[in-house]
Amino acid sequence: QSHLLGIEPLRPHEITAILDLAEDYVALNRQTEKHSEALAGLTQINMFFENSTRTQASFELAGKRLGADVMNMAMQASSIKKGETLIDTAMTLNAMHPDLLVVRHPHSGAVDLLAQKVNCAVLNAGDGRHEHPTQALLDALTIRRAKGRLHRLNIAICGDVTHSRVARSNLILLGKMENRIRLIGPPTLVPQQFAEFGAEIYDDMREGLKDVDVVMMLRLQKERMDGGFIPSEREYFYRYGLDAEKLALAKPDAIVMHPGPMNRGVEIDGTIADDIKRSVIQEQVEMGVAVRMAAMDLLARNLRSIRQAEAS
Ligand code: CP
Repeated sequence: QSHLLGIEPLRPHEITAILDLAEDYVALNRQTEKHSEALAGLTQINMFFENSTRTQASFELAGKRLGADVMNMAMQASSIKKGETLIDTAMTLNAMHPDLLVVRHPHSGAVDLLAQKVNCAVLNAGDGRHEHPTQALLDALTIRRAKGRLHRLNIAICGDVTHSRVARSNLILLGKMENRIRLIGPPTLVPQQFAEFGAEIYDDMREGLKDVDVVMMLRLQKERMDGGFIPSEREYFYRYGLDAEKLALAKPDAIVMHPGPMNRGVEIDGTIADDIKRSVIQEQVEMGVAVRMAAMDLLARNLRSIRQAEAS
C-alpha cells in the first residue's frame, strides 16, 4: 500500500503483518533506549485540523523513535485561517518534499482527497465519521494480546456508533478477521443500516452484553450531532453506561476498551475504567505508539522501493 487511508482496502494478511511488526516495536518501546533508524533521513509532517491527545502525541513519538525529522503543523496558526484551502495547504507542504503526511480532518473523505494531490505517503489520523485506521489497528493488537487471538471472538461495540470513525474502522477490521460483532445503543445512535456490516444490533445493553469477550465503549460525539437528538447524560448512563452490574453479564474474563477521550459517568463508570483486572484502556494507548511505528515503517519501505525503481 502507498497510503494508509482506511481499513477497507487492507487484506487480512496485511493487517496481521502490521500487528506482527508492531509487536517488535512494543518490545523496543519497553527498553530504556528506544531508537530505531527505520525512518532515518525521512521527513514526517503532522497536520491535525481537529483536536487530539493520543493520536497526535503517539504519531509524533513514533516518528521520533524511528529517526524521522518530525514537524507538527500548528493548524490553528496556519494560513488555513486566512482562507487557504486544504488542497492548497497540502500542495504547499508537498513542495517541501515530505515523505509522510499524517492528517486528521473533520470532514469524511478529506484525507483521501489530499492523498491524490501529494507525492508522499499519507496516513489518515481520523477523518470525520469515516475511518480512523490506526485506532482500529491498535485496538486489534490490544485484543490479540489480551485474548491470544483475533478471530472467533464475540465483541460488543457500545454507544454512539453512527458518529464514530473508530466504530466504523473497528467494524471493518474485526469483521475481516472473522469475529462476531454486536452493536449496542439507542436506535438514534445505532441505525439498522449498520447491519450491512454483518453486525447484530441491540438496543438493550443488558441483552447485548451477554457472554461477550470484549466490551468496547464509545464516547457520545456531541460535536458531530449537528443539533440532532442529544440524550440526557443521566438517562444515557442508566441505559447505556458501562457499570459493574452490566459488565457482570459479559464473560468473566471479558476486557473493557475505550478509544478515549473518555466521559466518565456518561458512557463508562470511572471505577470500571480504572479496574486494571478488566480495563485495557492504558494498554490501548501503549499499543498506539507501536502500531503507528509499524504502519509508518511499512509505508516508508514501500516509498523507498518505489523511488529506487523510479531512479533505476
Ligand atoms: N482515540 C483518539 O483518536 O484519541 P484522540 O482524539 O485524543 O487522538
